[in-house]
Amino acid sequence: MTERRGFGLYVHWPFCQAKCPYCDFNSHVVEKIDQNHWRDAFRKEVARVQNDLPDRTLNTIFFGGGTPSLMTPETVDAVISAAREAWPFANDMEITLEANPTSIEAERFRGFLGAGINRVSIGVQALINEDLRRLGRLHSADEARRAVELAKSIFPRVSFDLIYARQDQSLSDWESELTEALELADGHLSLYQLTIEPGTAFGDRFAVGKLRGLPEEGLAADMFELTQDLTSRHGLHAYEVSNHAAPSYESRHNLIYWRGHDWLGIGPGAHGRFTFGERRIATESHSLPSEWLNAVSDGSGENVRTTLTEQDDVEERLMMGLRLEEGIKETKFSEYINKFNDLIEIGMLERSQERVRTTPAGRRVLNAVIRELLA
Ligand SMILES: C[S@@+](CC[C@H](N)C(=O)[O-])C[C@H]1O[C@@H](n2cnc3c(N)ncnc32)[C@H](O)[C@@H]1O
Ligand code: SF4
Repeated sequence: MTERRGFGLYVHWPFCQAKCPYCDFNSHVVEKIDQNHWRDAFRKEVARVQNDLPDRTLNTIFFGGGTPSLMTPETVDAVISAAREAWPFANDMEITLEANPTSIEAERFRGFLGAGINRVSIGVQALINEDLRRLGRLHSADEARRAVELAKSIFPRVSFDLIYARQDQSLSDWESELTEALELADGHLSLYQLTIEPGTAFGDRFAVGKLRGLPEEGLAADMFELTQDLTSRHGLHAYEVSNHAAPSYESRHNLIYWRGHDWLGIGPGAHGRFTFGERRIATESHSLPSEWLNAVSDGSGENVRTTLTEQDDVEERLMMGLRLEEGIKETKFSEYINKFNDLIEIGMLERSQERVRTTPAGRRVLNAVIRELLA
């Protein structure tokens, strides 16, 4: 019997009100956005990518960014309607939109619900005003709290993101903040350790030694540990390295990525992966918004399409699958069995019921574990 594979559609909205100094996502700040133009382009792209997987049932749509809460509900509605014309929707269809907690965007929440959004993921980032300022955020902690409460009163499922290991943050600061977040949460939290990305404002400051107060490795590791402890005590298990959920509140869309199932991506810079016969296809759209719009009006927003080699495919699945608490099915990675055994022996991996997964110790150094496997 063939495995039932999830199928999702990713829609990238590439605009933000301001560029946060830590962020290297494909996001741009512009004066004016012609929503009608974008609506038409997305609709055209849905119709094009339908040809890649015409006979499937769609399980999830994810509006990511950038700041998709800057889309009008009409634009969101048009994309969802186009998807509904392209594929039958699963009964438990999940449609997520990433939202920023400023008041203008919160006002649109009801409109998004009307358009079909049934899950929002809000970028709270911190619950302390001074830290929000240092992160370049345009909202206050109170606005973020209100946006989460409002979202909880409107949408069936709500998640929010926090960034920890920030400048001058102590372990007990993070403990208080996370405790408040767990009280506020509605079954799902994404908790990311701050990474300094090259090419961002933080990256530039870091390179010249001007980003002060970042935690030493030991403190960052303690923060990770504390995060695992507190969340699991509150009933939100770490189903992925940075994602914590109550049972059945996991993000179905993100599980499609980590399980190596199929998704199509539209919008500037969006990636897609799907299996066609025996081949694993990888797609990537034009990254610059203006280039993408031009390419779509010429017929296709896609920039690159490749067939992954078997080795690349296996490595990608391994890297993604080991991020998950459920781990990977060992029989699909038979050439790695010796390496699995070595890492099991030193307590980085464990094996049960034909699955291999990272141990808590292995998760703490996941990148090193993956490097070892792929070496
Ligand atoms: C694509 S962003 C979109 C969210 C939305 N635009 C917002 O900022 O509220 C997704 C999440 O990635 C996280 N993120 C982005 N850059 C990060 C970094 N350098 N380190 C840690 N987390 C980061 C943030 O928590 C952010 O909410
Ligand atoms: S974190 Fe969100 S709001 Fe900030 S630049 Fe990145 S995508 Fe835009």
